[in-house]
Amino acid sequence: MTGLEATGITYTVGRKLLDDVSVTFPAGTLVALSGPSGSGKTTLLSIAGGLLEPTAGTTSYDGRSMWQGTGDPRPDVAFVLQVYGLVPILSARENVSIALRARGVDPAEADERAEAALARFHIADLGDRQVEELSGGQMQRVACARGFVPGAAVLLADEPTSELDEGNRGLVLAELRAEAERGGIVVVATHDPAVVASCDLHYSLDEGRLT
Ligand SMILES: Nc1ncnc2c1ncn2[C@@H]1O[C@H](COP(=O)(O)OP(=O)(O)OP(=O)(O)O)[C@@H](O)[C@H]1O
Ligand SMILES: [Mg+2]
Repeated sequence: MTGLEATGITYTVGRKLLDDVSVTFPAGTLVALSGPSGSGKTTLLSIAGGLLEPTAGTTSYDGRSMWQGTGDPRPDVAFVLQVYGLVPILSARENVSIALRARGVDPAEADERAEAALARFHIADLGDRQVEELSGGQMQRVACARGFVPGAAVLLADEPTSELDEGNRGLVLAELRAEAERGGIVVVATHDPAVVASCDLHYSLDEGRLT
């Protein structure tokens, strides 16, 4: 199976945020990326997903670099962002639907699939609600629905369970697992030992270095 490789990644803005980090994220494997706050998890996911250009080192998936020269991710990459990245004045359904519309899916079909994605995270009843009216944990599940809805080959989830109770954390973990079993490349950055324990492969960062 193919994987996403990041090799010799260094990222410097003023100081080194990542220092010679090499990781492989194999397809079909649920990968945990852990480490203390500020250790570089979000920075590494951003480079792995093509949002940031590494100062040194390379990324590769399916024979091509993840960095496309612009900071726009490839269409085969989806994110669950740590700060959600939702549009507050749109409804939950619209926030999920735009991930598909942006990939060229017909609007009616996109709305239907968005509805189904909200249901996967048990928030189908919140589709019409504006995101700014939702609780933190509800927003986090909308962000999960938006990240999962394209069924992308690469899913990079940054602390997707940080605001959730145990039941909903289990739900998100089961959905991450399902994406990996479908053959996806699935990486979850987390502080939570229970999330790490349920992954197949674990990388740990400390001050920008692999430990
Ligand atoms: N654009 C930037 N310019 C300068 N420093 C930055 C920038 N982005 C991140 N940092 C710093 O880089 C370090 C790593 O940040 P990063 O967000 O990758 O950590 P993290 O492991 O995801 O932390 P957390 O668990 O809190 O989300 C931090 O010290 C942060 O302050
Ligand atoms: Mg982070």
